[in-house]
Amino acid sequence: MEHIANIVTADLDVARIRKDFPILQQQVHGKPLVYLDNGATTQKPQVVIDTESRYYEEYNSNVHRGVHRLSQVATDAYEKARHIVAGYINAAHSHEVIFTKGTTDAINLVANTFSRRFLKAGDSVIISAMEHHSNIVPWQIACEESGATLKVIPINEKGELRMDTFEAMLDDTVKIVAVTYVSNTMGTINPVQDIITLAHARNIPVLLDAAQAVQHISIDVQALKPDFLAFSGHKIYGPTGTGVLYGTTEWLNKLPPYQGGGDMIKTVTFAKTIYNELPYKFEAGTPHIAGAIGLGAAIQYLQQTGIEKIQQWEEQLLAYALEQLRGIDGIRFIGDAAHRSGAISFLVHNIHPFDMGELLDQQGIAVRTGHHCTEPLMDLFQIPGTVRASLSFYNTTEEIDKLVAGIRRAASMLL
Ligand code: ALA
Repeated sequence: MEHIANIVTADLDVARIRKDFPILQQQVHGKPLVYLDNGATTQKPQVVIDTESRYYEEYNSNVHRGVHRLSQVATDAYEKARHIVAGYINAAHSHEVIFTKGTTDAINLVANTFSRRFLKAGDSVIISAMEHHSNIVPWQIACEESGATLKVIPINEKGELRMDTFEAMLDDTVKIVAVTYVSNTMGTINPVQDIITLAHARNIPVLLDAAQAVQHISIDVQALKPDFLAFSGHKIYGPTGTGVLYGTTEWLNKLPPYQGGGDMIKTVTFAKTIYNELPYKFEAGTPHIAGAIGLGAAIQYLQQTGIEKIQQWEEQLLAYALEQLRGIDGIRFIGDAAHRSGAISFLVHNIHPFDMGELLDQQGIAVRTGHHCTEPLMDLFQIPGTVRASLSFYNTTEEIDKLVAGIRRAASMLL
């Protein structure tokens, strides 16, 4: 594996990349920070921090509202960011990119508006057993209010979707399928192309939660053809409070507005409001302008670094991590899918994940512990939670070695 690490490191200069992320230079509890909680949020390169600051320092102004110079500059930068996002996922039109507060906001937008227009008693919505709460609860609310039924695709013991069952579930009652592209807890990469093909054969739209995919896997929405795709800015090296809902023009035009307010209207009278065109119809109120512009900078940074190189390095790093972790006495992986990305969840003997997390933290190693906002998945595996290490392209094999040594040390103290 040393050999592989050297090759790929030569391709992607990780040492140089790490210098772009100021937060990675610090020490935690007197030890160099080993940040392995990238599934929760990624760190920001200097260019994102600078881009956001520059907006406030040089052209802070509202968008789509003023004829004055600063407002025009801000509007141009905001719309350029939309264009960058559209290019990154290869959307056919920039207006198919709606800026949101994050993945949760994007899914709520679809669940709310879709159910108001298209769900009624007797209908059903399909999600999967590995969804994050943000792709469960909005659909539960939608079903509760419409009288529709929520159905759940089961998974096997490795944490993979049971596609045979999914296919059998697709009957005439199903009005939408909403599944995660990559599991935030187990790292499973779901066969989303197959899911979309099967659903579309019955004219059922598909929403993909790409919160844990878009930073690891190159996504071409025109090739994949999801009807909706949601992701968060802060998980793709951009600012918190930003996110994206991609939707096809056809579907976004069919949905009613989500929130009412400024910018989402063409004209308002007390008798009737005419809604604005896409994408503004779904962007009520002053948006997170600085954040959207910062998200554009983050995506440009990834594009300049090379998403294929990033993907390749992360795959090598994941393989290395799994191989090294497998050598730990008493380790049990939660999820062991053939296709995976990003996250590794595990337990060691009967050590509580919080105890392991705390002892790792004392060694400067940041991981997430708990249910990872996937309580039904924890119930399925009959565990209270896991320890989760989640990777980024700025991580190194040396950091994986520190994680493995840290787990061994913690286990020796706790057992
Ligand atoms: N959804 C994020 C995670 O899985 C917060 O950690």
